[in-house]
Amino acid sequence: MKIFVAKNAGYCFGVQKAIETAEKSINQYPKPIYTLGPIIHNNQVIKGLENQGVYAIDKVNKVQQGTIIIRSHGVEPKIYEQIKKRGLKIIDATCPYVKNIQNKVQKYYQKGYQIIIVGNKRHPEVIGVNGWCDNTAIILDSIKEAENISNYQRVCIVSQTTIIQKHFSEIVSKIIAKSREIIIFNTICNTTTKRQEEAKKLSKVVDAMIIIGGYHSSNTQKLVSICKKYCKNTYHIETYKDLSIAEIKTYNKIGITAGASTPDWIIKEVIEKMQNKLSENNEKQIDFEDSFE
Ligand code: F3S
Repeated sequence: MKIFVAKNAGYCFGVQKAIETAEKSINQYPKPIYTLGPIIHNNQVIKGLENQGVYAIDKVNKVQQGTIIIRSHGVEPKIYEQIKKRGLKIIDATCPYVKNIQNKVQKYYQKGYQIIIVGNKRHPEVIGVNGWCDNTAIILDSIKEAENISNYQRVCIVSQTTIIQKHFSEIVSKIIAKSREIIIFNTICNTTTKRQEEAKKLSKVVDAMIIIGGYHSSNTQKLVSICKKYCKNTYHIETYKDLSIAEIKTYNKIGITAGASTPDWIIKEVIEKMQNKLSENNEKQIDFEDSFE
């Protein structure tokens, strides 16, 4: 058996930074320390932070004192005001790429453009970005929705950082016919694009794909949907415990990738457990390549 691991599997720059910020805050800032929403979509990491006294909350008004960390997804401006009003310390771990989208949206909204966000309206990043244009953005997640919008004189389009490039292009092409002046910012994160391209390539050449990442993680779900197109034996797991070794051992070539919120140690654990289980009783000879791109 050969196991290939995608080069860009796991933590992206923004998530890495948010986690480090949360870990450093433990000894630096007023306690209790909270994150507004789970810092990443990974239950194992969240539990680890809870054990060190960093708790996820869903609303600022639940907090009387201490520190609030804004996660990489970012938030709308009114949240900063609420935190300040309550006299709480703010640690802003918004990913710089998301901050860049918020700034663009604010700038073009103030210039009178209709803002369009291509993405999922329930995703926290999109909810946050919409706040920077007073929640007036049109949020589109399908071609049908794009076909149904009205005509606008001036439009500014941005994308959720984790959407699929092809999906963005298709939606944008529908909007072009509906406005006189359009500014398009392709704000899909480079890391996301690279990870998705690797997943696509890898899933075409293996018998089975394993995608490691939180079941609620949007970017992990996208990887799963890409891989399913090219490899029918695609498995989405959170940890090695979700993996059926009985099924896995029937394959000869296995690809592994992971979402942006999957720590390295979880990826390593999956690989190690697979190697150990598969080599028990000399069931399989395993070759390992850890930099497929
Ligand atoms: Fe930031 Fe890109 Fe990660 S936008 S949070 S570096 S996926």
